[in-house]
Amino acid sequence: MYRSMCIIGAGVIGGAVARILARKRFVDRLIATRRNLDKIRYLEKYGVVITDDNVWAVENSDVVFLSVKPTNVGEVLSGLGGALGDKLLISVVAGVPISYLRRYAPDARVVRAMPNLCLLVGESFTVYCFSDNVSEADRDFVSSLFQALGMAYEVDEGMLNAYTGYTGSGPAYIAIFIEALFYAGLKVGIPRDISLAAAAQLAIGTGRLIRDGKMHYSEVKERVVTPAGTTIEGIFELESTDMRRGLMKAVEKATRRGDELSRLFK
Ligand SMILES: NC(=O)c1ccc[n+]([C@@H]2O[C@H](COP(=O)([O-])OP(=O)(O)OC[C@H]3O[C@@H](n4cnc5c(N)ncnc54)[C@H](OP(=O)(O)O)[C@@H]3O)[C@@H](O)[C@H]2O)c1
Repeated sequence: MYRSMCIIGAGVIGGAVARILARKRFVDRLIATRRNLDKIRYLEKYGVVITDDNVWAVENSDVVFLSVKPTNVGEVLSGLGGALGDKLLISVVAGVPISYLRRYAPDARVVRAMPNLCLLVGESFTVYCFSDNVSEADRDFVSSLFQALGMAYEVDEGMLNAYTGYTGSGPAYIAIFIEALFYAGLKVGIPRDISLAAAAQLAIGTGRLIRDGKMHYSEVKERVVTPAGTTIEGIFELESTDMRRGLMKAVEKATRRGDELSRLFK
């Protein structure tokens, strides 16, 4: 039932999904499509079948993974005619609601998901929600698919734009934080390559301590701060900035923008 899967629009996200799932042999047969096939020839070495024929890809798949840009969704889905039928359709297209997808595929079992760029290294934070006609087996399949690409949670569709503004955009916020730390290292004379590696490693290491339940974030701070030491001097300076409020406003604004864009598909 979930033996074959096609990825329609194998760009940055879809290409990475194809590569990771093929290496994990997640399904028996994987097909990837895009118009410029030269850009996905590399997938053939993982055993992925590539084609620019979306209809053929869908007809030969149990599961359809849609990862084209929002502006291409209408044209791509209408080009499929009735090929989708009642297949499982998983869309990662930002801002496009289940109701819009079902307009083109009324019988499809639909999943709307929001991964992020960290999917490229198998560390995505993905949220997903379902149309009302999915089965328990569909739910299990989708959960294990997104777990294979990182961490994943089922959420209500009404929260999807909040996650888009938070975890979808999140890698950009963390990249800015890493860049700022990198410059801070330069300011105190640390060589460029070491400062950048250190900033990224700090984000990964601290993230793992907290994500893996080794320490609460407050404990991380407590363990590093000593009376009249160096860290308290650094924190004292940081607390005088607008960093926390700035992050809240950034996520709130990004969420509102997601709401605006979603209204285009109502
Ligand atoms: N990038 C992110 O961080 C991120 C995070 C979460 C969600 N998303 C969502 O994921 C989706 C893909 O994003 P992306 O960053 O991977 O974009 P992308 O690299 O531009 O990938 C989209 C792909 O769709 C292909 N395409 C366009 N028309 C097509 C058609 N008619 N048939 C087959 N393929 C077609 C394009 O290739 P050709 O031009 O060669 O056809 C392109 O490679 C978007 O909807 C985005 O909202 C992205």
